Amino acid sequence: MLKIDLLKGDALHLLKDIKDKSIDVIFADPPYNLSGKNYLTCKNGKVAVCDKGKWDQIENIHEFNRDWIRECVRILKDDGTLWISGTLHNHPSVGIILKELKLWVINDIIWFKPNAAPLIQKNRFAPSTELIWIAAKSKKYYFDYEIAKYLNNGKQMRNLWEIPAERHKTSHPTEKPERLLERIILIGSKEGDTVLDPFMGSGTTGVVAKRLKRNFIGIEIDSDYFKIAKKRIDSTVMRDSLVEYFKQLGGRNKNIQLEFSNPKR
Ligand SMILES: C[S@@+](CC[C@H](N)C(=O)[O-])C[C@H]1O[C@@H](n2cnc3c(N)ncnc32)[C@H](O)[C@@H]1O
Repeated sequence: MLKIDLLKGDALHLLKDIKDKSIDVIFADPPYNLSGKNYLTCKNGKVAVCDKGKWDQIENIHEFNRDWIRECVRILKDDGTLWISGTLHNHPSVGIILKELKLWVINDIIWFKPNAAPLIQKNRFAPSTELIWIAAKSKKYYFDYEIAKYLNNGKQMRNLWEIPAERHKTSHPTEKPERLLERIILIGSKEGDTVLDPFMGSGTTGVVAKRLKRNFIGIEIDSDYFKIAKKRIDSTVMRDSLVEYFKQLGGRNKNIQLEFSNPKR
């Protein structure tokens, strides 16, 4: 039976209760530390200070990153993979830590959002990408090359992923598109594997993991976001079969959106 474990609290503490080498895939969408008076954004067509919430203002982001990434490495199986999303605000720190911890960095995925909001200021390029590191403990890790190829219309998948930002399903300010997580979970795990998200937010990773019949452990510190995630995951339905859906697509669609899990794997 599928196990969904949602934990409310600080990932820095709660990760310590998870068994060594017990997780197949970790997707982490941590605070990027991009809120504060030095970071501007566009709100209702006007320049405004970027404020995602208190959780996005961390005094020593490098120390914070080192603490949670170290725990993630401890709980990751030897053939598991760790996927970490971010922007230039936290990625230099994440990259250094992955190297310090002697992880094998498999790829850096560039997630391109063709519909990213325009930039009002005319002093730089409009940000329209996020970066996702993929790392493992060694060169022997689980990676479903064939499903990646299938999802890319029968062609080898590259590390540039064009996935539009979606209208949010919840009030969380940084909700990720389900399509992004569908790719990650299908490529990084099999049915019955365990996926963990230490910064669950609105629960996107849990929704997709459950839909695709993976066990899920999610951690969230904020009570309101925790409630949103729980409600969303509780109401998610597990899918029976991807086969019909795959047939229907016939490899023709450029932007395949998965809706069913694959019982053959
Ligand atoms: C970038 S958001 C994740 C969004 C998520 N991927 C989604 O699709 O909704 C980061 C989340 O981490 C939570 N958070 C911040 N610090 C935390 C900590 N120490 N432990 C657990 N959660 C934390 C925040 O409350 C926020 O909801």
